[in-house]
Parts: sequence; structure tokens; C-alpha cells
Amino acid sequence: MKKIIQIQPWIDSQEANYLKKIINKTFLTEAGETKKFENRITKRFKSKYSIAVSNWTNGIFMSLKAFNIGEGDEVIVPNLTFIATVNAVIMTGAKPVICEVDEKNLSIDLEHYKKIISKKTKAVIPVHLYGHCCDLNKLKKISRRYKIKIIEDAAQSIGAKFNDRYLGTIGEIGGFSFYGNKIITTGEGGIILTNSLQLKKKMYELKNHGRSKKGVFKHNSVGYNFMFTEMQAAIGNIQLNKLNKILLKKKKIYNNYKKGLSKVADISFMKNISLNKPVYWFSNIFTKSKPRLQKFLQKRNIQTRDIFFPIVLQPCYKNTNLIIKKKKNYSISNKIFNTGLSLPSSYNLTKKEQNFIVSSIKEFFKK
Ligand SMILES: Cc1ncc(COP(=O)(O)O)c(C=O)c1O
Repeated sequence: MKKIIQIQPWIDSQEANYLKKIINKTFLTEAGETKKFENRITKRFKSKYSIAVSNWTNGIFMSLKAFNIGEGDEVIVPNLTFIATVNAVIMTGAKPVICEVDEKNLSIDLEHYKKIISKKTKAVIPVHLYGHCCDLNKLKKISRRYKIKIIEDAAQSIGAKFNDRYLGTIGEIGGFSFYGNKIITTGEGGIILTNSLQLKKKMYELKNHGRSKKGVFKHNSVGYNFMFTEMQAAIGNIQLNKLNKILLKKKKIYNNYKKGLSKVADISFMKNISLNKPVYWFSNIFTKSKPRLQKFLQKRNIQTRDIFFPIVLQPCYKNTNLIIKKKKNYSISNKIFNTGLSLPSSYNLTKKEQNFIVSSIKEFFKK
């Protein structure tokens, strides 16, 4: 069997044909197609405003800047996430304070969160890892008490809900990534969501050289260039048409793994809390035999991926004071990293391929 890739986007002639149409208009920098994309996202996810940006890393950075967060401030982030969440905080000059995660949903451990809040804490970034989330009602209650802003990193969880509201629209600001491996993609790209007109205006200025519209050369503030392009928007608009189908297929893939592997004693799955309606960006399993299983599957041309590496162990932060650790040993994060494996989860995964993956895993555990 040919190599089964862990994750691939669903891109076909629909994107290619539409892209050609948009390119033929010859206006390639952010314009009408981007507006259309933003409006569709706003409507679909019931957010008042959305701002397309060059990538979601910059989106997190802009969200923090919109609250004037910088040097001398602390921002709480989980120990398990893609490193961009943490680096976006470092980019502002603030200090990321690292929170342990919950073993069940891999999101912020709310008990640890309460303990590590300080007078300097200005924001928290819950990361809805792999489409799941923590109890956001509790997170909101704690954060409100200390006037801590919530910026939701919903990079991996477009379409997931908590208490009937879309992840990314529950905190003061939130957003999605459209990087190549995400549920829908624009190559690179991201979008910021907020219900505050004031924040929206501020963030638009930040991404557009500190001015409120294009074509003028008087700048209200010192800004950046994090603009979107019409090519990204064209692809995004076709990807949005496919979103429901992709989410359904990913759920089916996840359920097939769960059913197929239900009798394997050494395998467990993520657990969602009662109000969370997750999406299944990646199908993850947890097993003590992870390293051996990963090698076994590799020999069969089945590509898998590790769970994110704990932030406090990242080589790039070693011997620096860029991040603040609040525990000697983040044992839950370490355990999740040591046992977690992302299985092939692409929209294009065939039934035959998935059966082969499931039977290979079963065979491994029979040995
Ligand atoms: C949890 C998380 N946060 C942030 C990012 C950064 O997004 P981007 O690649 O669009 O900058 C990603 C993905 O790349 C991510 O998975």
C-alpha cells in the first residue's frame, strides 16, 4: 500500500478554477474577496467582527497588543500547544506563564490556573487543542474575578462548540489558523474574531501599518503589515464551502478508530467535557507502547505524529528567562507527550486505508 500521510488538506480543481478567476482580476492584495471571506466567517460563527490576517501567530500577537499587553505583564498559556502561542506572547515583551494541562481534554488545568495568577497576569490563552476545550464557564468565572482577558487559541478547532457557542467567540478575542494542515486552509493565514468594535478597529490598524484604511499616508499608530491576500481569500472561500463535509468526515474517521480499537485494552482516547461539542482535527490515541507502535506503523508506511512537545522542555527556552515555569515537573503534560499519537486523519483517507491502519494496530497489540 502507498504511504498513508498523517494529514493532508482537501484541495482540488474547485480551488484552482476559482483562484484563476480571482487572479485574472489582477488586484491581488486585500480587497473584495477578503471582505467576502471575513463576512462569511462572521456570519457562520456568529461573531460580530472578523479580521483576516497573514497568519494566526500574528493574530495572537495583535490580540495581545490590542489590550496593550507588553513588557512587565504576564500571560498564562498551557504547557501543551504549538509553540506559536507562546512565541506570540514573547513577541510583545510580556512573559508567558506556563500552566499544566488537564489529562482528559489536554486544555488548561483550571486548578493550576487559579494557583498561578499574579498581580501581573493580564491575559490567559486557552488553547483548544485538537478541537477540544476545558470548562470555559469556569475559566471565565476565574478570569473575570481577576480582570484577566481571555484570548482563545482556536487554531485547530474551527466549528467546535462549548455550550452551543463556537470556540473562538467565547473570550474577548479568539481566532483560527488556516495553515496548510488545519481543518480548512489558505496555505498560510488566520482570522481574528471579536464582538468589540473598539478592539476590531484597533486590530485592523495594527495589521495595516497603523491606519484605519488603505491608500492614506497619515498613520494614527505604529503598526505592522499583517494583511491578507485575495489569493488566500479565494482559496478560503472554496474551503469554507467544504467545511461541513470535512468536519463530518473527520468525525467519522474518529468514530471508526474508536469502534475499531475499542477492544484494545492499552489504548485510550480524549474525553470531552459535557458542554463541549468537539471537532476532530486529528484522531489521537494514548498508549504506553507509543514509541514501539509508532515504529511498527512506520514500517507499514503509515505516518503518525507526536503530540505537541511540552513547552517547558523546549530546547529554545532552555537557560533563558523567556518563559516562567510554575512547577518542577509538569507530569501530566509529560505523560500525554509520552503516550499520545496522532493517527492519519485527512479528509481523503479511504475506508480501505483506515481498515489497514486499525488492523495493523490490533496486530501490534496481539504480539
Ligand atoms: C494551537 C496553535 N496555535 C497557533 C498556531 C499558529 O498558527 P499559524 O500557523 O497560522 O501562525 C497553530 C498552528 O500553526 C496552532 O496549532
